[in-house]
Amino acid sequence: MSVHVMNHPLVAHKMTILRDKNTSVKDFRELVSEIGMLITYEATRDLPLTTKTIETPICEMNAPTLKGKKFAVVPILRAGLGLVDGVLRMVPSARVGHIGMFRDEETLEPHVYFCKMPKDIADRDILIVDPMLATGGSAVAAVDEMKKRGCKHIKLMVLLAAPEGIQRMQEAHPDVDIFCGALDDHLNEKGYIVPGLGDAGDRIFGTK
Ligand code: PRP
Ligand code: URA
Repeated sequence: MSVHVMNHPLVAHKMTILRDKNTSVKDFRELVSEIGMLITYEATRDLPLTTKTIETPICEMNAPTLKGKKFAVVPILRAGLGLVDGVLRMVPSARVGHIGMFRDEETLEPHVYFCKMPKDIADRDILIVDPMLATGGSAVAAVDEMKKRGCKHIKLMVLLAAPEGIQRMQEAHPDVDIFCGALDDHLNEKGYIVPGLGDAGDRIFGTK
């Protein structure tokens, strides 16, 4: 498994505004989408290309074009929804599957309550999206669900990751590459990422 931490001034700048507790819900939502778009750029670096013949105003050329490989973005509900439009702006033909999950507040373990995927999901390259990789329980369970459905090529995109979550993913799903905006220090006793950005879902949807 490889972990790609975005090392880019635009992402670093936007992440700082995102983390700030005084950032408004509107700005937070927009930043999640923008950073999602920037991480998608990195996560799609290996999409296969083919060529087609076109005519520029100057001459004919054999030009690169995406091979049209099947791709799906899978947000973990609910906070993952905030990242979907950023991915779709980069890959407009992607299909979208949804996994609904809530965490038991005591054990922090996730429970899947909803899973709706495109019919041909097993044939698609999958990008699971969620702003936070904390204990890793949600991401591991989401990958489990996708593998149960026959998916073989899976990547995970998060805004923030904790070392604990990365380690858990590495143990459970060493074949899944992780793309993240930043790697933080540790988890606190409540399972929140430190320094983190708080509860991503509440900040995206304004529920607190
Ligand atoms: C958050 C976040 C992840 C999960 C990460 O969701 O969006 O799904 O926590 O934590 P983990 O790595 O320890 O599993 P939350 O359960 O708060 O639900 P929400 O998206 O509805 O806010
Ligand atoms: N989920 C969140 O929304 N934030 C954290 O810091 C950890 C899990």
